Amino acid sequence: MKDLIAQSLKYQDGKVQVLDQYLLPHQEVWHICQTVNEMQGLINNLQVRGAPLIGLAATLLVAYLAEQGSSREDLVHAIDDLEATRPTAVNLKHCMDRLRAVVHSEQNVTEVVTVAEQLFEEDVALCTRIAEHGVDLVNAGDNILTHCNTGALATAGIGTALGVIFQAMQRHGDIHVWVDETRPLLQGGRLTAYELARWQIPYTLLCDSMAASLMAAGKVDKIFVGADRVAANGDFANKVGTYNLAVLAHFHNVPFYVVAPKTTFDPACASGRDIEIEQRSAGEVTGVSGSFGECQWAPSEAEVYNPAFDVTPAKLVTGWVFDSGVYTTPEFINL
Ligand code: MRU
Repeated sequence: MKDLIAQSLKYQDGKVQVLDQYLLPHQEVWHICQTVNEMQGLINNLQVRGAPLIGLAATLLVAYLAEQGSSREDLVHAIDDLEATRPTAVNLKHCMDRLRAVVHSEQNVTEVVTVAEQLFEEDVALCTRIAEHGVDLVNAGDNILTHCNTGALATAGIGTALGVIFQAMQRHGDIHVWVDETRPLLQGGRLTAYELARWQIPYTLLCDSMAASLMAAGKVDKIFVGADRVAANGDFANKVGTYNLAVLAHFHNVPFYVVAPKTTFDPACASGRDIEIEQRSAGEVTGVSGSFGECQWAPSEAEVYNPAFDVTPAKLVTGWVFDSGVYTTPEFINL
C-alpha cells in the first residue's frame, strides 16, 4: 500500500499508525496497530474516533492484513469484527461493505489495498468539496457554534463542519467559534479547541449547558455540526447534545446546519427512529479521565444514562451541507 497520511491516521513505513485522540491535547502519542483486536480496542476506547476516521482506520488495518497474506476467510472475519465495534456511524459499515465486496468476489484479495487507498483519498476529496459548498453560508465576522469534533482529526481531510469553518477563516479572516466542550468525553474541549488553536482560529470554550443563554444573548450567528448517520428523511444522529442545540436554535431563530460527506448518508435508514444509538459505560458520566488524569465524583453505584449520540429531527435543520451541495429539504435522497 502506498503511504497515506492524515492528521491522526497514517499508513507509513508499512505500518498502520494512529494518533491517540483520548490523550490529546496534552500528549501526542502514536500507536502502531497490527491486529483486529488492537484496532477494536482503539475504536472502542475512542482513541480513534469520528465517523469517517473510524471507517478509514478499520479499512487500513484490513488492507494491511491483506498485504501480510491473510486468507480470504480471515479477512471476512476481520471485516465483520471491525464493523461490530461501534454501531451508530454508518461510515464504518460503508467502508466494510466496500472491502467485503472485494473479498467475496473472484478478485485477488490484494485488491483490498487498492480499495483502501481509494476510500482514504475519496474522504480527503469529500471534505474539500463539503467546505467549498459550506463556506458560502458563512459571513465575515460570524460567531459560529459547533459541537463535538469534526475536524482533520476525525477525517482524512480537513474535516466536515470544522472544515467549513476552516475554509471560512481562509476566506474572511475574522471568524469566531463557540466550542461546546461536549460532555461526557469532551471532544470539543480537548480536540476542537486543539485544532482551532493550531489553525489560529479565535475560539471560546463553553460548557454545553451554557449554549442557551449564549443564544438568548444573540451571540450565535449560526451553528454547524457533523453527523454519524443521516437517514433518508433528513433526521440525523450526531454526538449527544446536538439535539439540544437544534431545539435551542429553533427557539432562538439561529440557522442550524448539519455537515457531512455522502458516506454518512444511509438511504436504507428511513428515519432517525431506525438509527441504532450506542450506549456507553457509566464511568464516562460518573467522572472523567484522559491525559489530564482521572477523577470520579459520583457515587460508584450511581445509575447512569449514557447514549453516545442523539437524533435531531429533520424539521429542526436549516440546511444539510454535503459534498454535492447545500440542501434545504431532504432532497439528497438520491445521493
Ligand atoms: O464518539 P465520537 O467522538 O466518534 O463522535 C463523533 C461525532 O459525533 C462527530 O460529530 C461525527 O462523527 C462527525 S466527524 C466528521
